[in-house]
Amino acid sequence: MASPNENAATPHDLLGGAPVFEAIAQRFYDLMDQDPAYAELRAMHAQDLEPMRRSLPRFLAGWAGGPRDWFEANPGKCMMSLHRDFPIDEVTAAQWAEAMTRAIADVAPEPPHVAQAMTDVLSRMARSMAR
Ligand code: HEM
Repeated sequence: MASPNENAATPHDLLGGAPVFEAIAQRFYDLMDQDPAYAELRAMHAQDLEPMRRSLPRFLAGWAGGPRDWFEANPGKCMMSLHRDFPIDEVTAAQWAEAMTRAIADVAPEPPHVAQAMTDVLSRMARSMAR
């Protein structure tokens, strides 16, 4: 049976590593903060976005196969349970998915199949959080 190739590049590495995940998250929160199209999503978040600007890039990087420090600092924390207490509906879930789609397209478009796969999975995850 074939064993997994431990040297295989992860989505994290293929997209460009930590600086690119940092750029995706900062672009995402810039869009959320500045574009009125995301007003309802913005209103759900705390006034101070700095904690989220620090947390999201580390979560995304670990989730995409990079350094796991967010997961080590948050043992057992699950994104779906974490969001269960927020009043997420179809509107705010779609805003999250659209802002993330734009952020990836703006700062991490290469290689296209990896950028597209990440966009698809994150959009689906966001939409599945709506109630
Ligand atoms: C469906 C739309 C979503 C909405 C409306 C939403 C909203 C929120 C809100 C209100 C917070 C708390 C932030 C604060 O207190 O300022 C939060 C935290 C967070 N969200 Fe989301 N979120 C969504 C989807 C997602 C998705 C799909 C991901 C990841 C793939 C994600 C990752 C995070 C992370 C990493 C945190 C911080 C957790 C922590 O460090 O404790 N969110 N989200």
